[in-house]
Amino acid sequence: MPADSRPRRLAAAALTVALAALLAGCAQNPNSIFHSRTEFNREVGSLFKLLIWLGTIVFVFTEAMLVYALVRFRSRPGVKHDPEQVHGNTKLEILWTLIPAVVLAIIAVPTVRTIFRTQGDAPPNALQVEVVGHQWWWEFRYPQLGVVTANELYLPIGRPVDFALKTHDVLHSFWIPGLGGKRDLVNNRTNHLWFTPDSTTEEAFNGFCAEYCGTSHANMRFRAFTVTPEEFDSWVAHQGSGAAYTSVSAAPAAAPTVAPGTPAGARSAQVSPPAAPAPAPLQAGFVSFARDRMPSHTIPQTPIPANLTYDTALVGNPANGEMLVTRGSCIGCHAIKGVPGMVAEIGPNLTHVASRLTIGGGLFPNDTRHLASWVKNARAMKPGVAMLTLGKGQYDPVLKTTLSVGLTDQQIADVVAYLQSLK
Ligand code: CUA
Repeated sequence: MPADSRPRRLAAAALTVALAALLAGCAQNPNSIFHSRTEFNREVGSLFKLLIWLGTIVFVFTEAMLVYALVRFRSRPGVKHDPEQVHGNTKLEILWTLIPAVVLAIIAVPTVRTIFRTQGDAPPNALQVEVVGHQWWWEFRYPQLGVVTANELYLPIGRPVDFALKTHDVLHSFWIPGLGGKRDLVNNRTNHLWFTPDSTTEEAFNGFCAEYCGTSHANMRFRAFTVTPEEFDSWVAHQGSGAAYTSVSAAPAAAPTVAPGTPAGARSAQVSPPAAPAPAPLQAGFVSFARDRMPSHTIPQTPIPANLTYDTALVGNPANGEMLVTRGSCIGCHAIKGVPGMVAEIGPNLTHVASRLTIGGGLFPNDTRHLASWVKNARAMKPGVAMLTLGKGQYDPVLKTTLSVGLTDQQIADVVAYLQSLK
C-alpha cells in the first residue's frame, strides 16, 4: 500500500461524514421551524435566510481576501517581497468600520421589527391560553372557555392564539418548533407570545421545554394538536364538562382505613368493591386527536425500567379505583372536576385524563401498561418527579427504601380502570 494512502483515506472518510451531515440537514426534519405553518415561523424563517445570505457574502469575501494574501505574499526562496504596510491608513480604517456597521444595520432593522411584532398585542379575536410551567410538566388553561388540561394543547386552525407564559417554580421555555416559540417562562412576570396556525392541517406537533430547569428538563415535553374549529369546539365542550364517571359509592359511606406508615398519607383502602355501575354516557363528537393519526415522531418511545413489572391482564374495578383515588393521597395533588375535594393543582388535572394520548409530561403513551407502571412507581420512570411511589414492595428512589405498604397490583388495576373511565 502506498505511503500516502492513509491521509487520502482519512480525507475520503471526512468527506463522507460531511456529505452525510449535509444530507441529514436537508432531510425533512419534523421538529424543524422551517415549515411556515404560522406567521411567527415565517417571519423567523425569512430573518434566518437574510442572515444566512449576508453571512455567506461576508464569509466568501473575507476568505477570498485571506487566500489571495496567502498565495500572493507567500515566502519563496530568494524572493524578498513584503506587502505594503497599511497601519494608520485613515481611509481604510473608516471603510472597514463603515461596512460592518451597514451590514449590522441591515440585520438589526428586520430583527427588531420581528421581535416587537411577535411580542406585541395579539389580534383581538385571539384565543387566550395560559401556559404554566411546572417541574416537569405543562399546564394549559383556556380562561375564556373554562378548560384546564395538561401536556396536550389543542389549537383551532386559522385562529390566532395568545399565549400568556407563566411558571410555577423555576425558569422554563415554551417551544413548539413546528408552530412557534421559543419564549421563556419567567418568575413574577407574564411573557406573551402569539401566532396563528394558518397554514396547517390537522396535525400533531412535539413541544419542548427549551430552558434548563433541573433533573427532568429533557423529560418536560408536550404535544400540540391543530384541529378544525368544529373539532376544537367539540373538544372544549367535552373538556369543560365534569368527570365522565362517578359511581354511587362516591357518597361518603365506608371510610377507607389508612395503613400506618404509608408515605405521605397514601392509603391502602380495604373497601369491599361495590357493583361496578355503568359509566356515564359520553358526549358524542370529537374528544381527542386520533391516536392512530399521531406521526411516529410524536409517539413517546421512553422505555419502562426493566424491573418495574405489571400484569396487564388484571381486570380493575373502576368503583374501587375511584375510592382509592378520591379518598387517597391523590387528593393532595390532583383535581377532578365534579369530585368534591379533588381541587389541588400541584399535579396535572385528571378530569379527562383518559382523553389524553400521553402521560408523565409527554414521556409515555397513555395505555394500560404505562399508566399502571406510573401509578406503581413514577419515581422510577422519571427522575425527580413529584408523584409518589405507590406500589407495595416498590423501591422508592427518593426515600431510598422499599415500601412495605402501598397499593397491590390489583388495587393499581382498579385505579387504572377508574382513570381510564375519565374520558
Ligand atoms: Cu422546564 Cu426545562
